[in-house]
Amino acid sequence: MYVIEKTEELSQGVKSFIVKAPRIAKKCQPGQFIILRTDEDGERIPLTIADFNRETGTITLIFQEVGCSTRQLGRLQAGQAILDVAGPLGNASHIDKFGTVVCIGGGIGVAPVYPIARAYREAGNKVVSIIGARNESLLILEKEMAAVSDILHVTTDDGSKGHKGMVIDPLKSMIAAGEKIDLVIAIGPVVMMRGVAEVTRPYGIKTIVSLNPIMVDGTGMCGGCRVSVGNTNKFACVDGPEFDAHQVDFTGLMARQRMYLEHEKEERKCGGE
Ligand code: FES
Repeated sequence: MYVIEKTEELSQGVKSFIVKAPRIAKKCQPGQFIILRTDEDGERIPLTIADFNRETGTITLIFQEVGCSTRQLGRLQAGQAILDVAGPLGNASHIDKFGTVVCIGGGIGVAPVYPIARAYREAGNKVVSIIGARNESLLILEKEMAAVSDILHVTTDDGSKGHKGMVIDPLKSMIAAGEKIDLVIAIGPVVMMRGVAEVTRPYGIKTIVSLNPIMVDGTGMCGGCRVSVGNTNKFACVDGPEFDAHQVDFTGLMARQRMYLEHEKEERKCGGE
């Protein structure tokens, strides 16, 4: 059992849990994820590790309550426990000194971007971060991202905070101004990651995305997380979750996501909620 030490509501429907998981906290690296089950009948929920503390043996999980399983998770309080947490899973981010790294997080995607941005900064890179949400109340980890970035841009769809527009706007401005960009990492909705890939593609700027498709076993056995990258089938859980954005078949990825939409709609209705 994995005891929840602290819970916090970061924005509407977005929660942060600090969970005692010493073995995972000791081994995990930025970019990796876990799969948890709240109880024996619970669905397996993949979540990126948003932070970790090797001294206290804790990991931070940030999730959005979008369906039955995540709402059930969100109802747990500090002192209660999660049945099982498997991880760390997936490959760690390739952290190195590249020069100027632009870290982009959209919506809940800011959570996995945070430890990656911090690691790039610690490796001596200039980190320019761009975080965005639909509106100010949905924006998460602004303070934390500011602390690990040389420059932080904030965007909201409705202009309630920062630049009114999309996360790709400051990126386009940097490129238009001739600023040197050595690497871009983008995590968020698939449509956002595709948008970033299309902005950087003509300039040959190396761009990495972290994919979070439907996952079941997290060990490469079930095929649930299959994605096409460079015309080759890859499994996000064992080959990723990070991939070269210019090689990812985003159209296929979105089509697969749509396949699960009906199921997700049912999921949202669970328990008559
Ligand atoms: Fe089953 Fe990746 S989650 S193959």
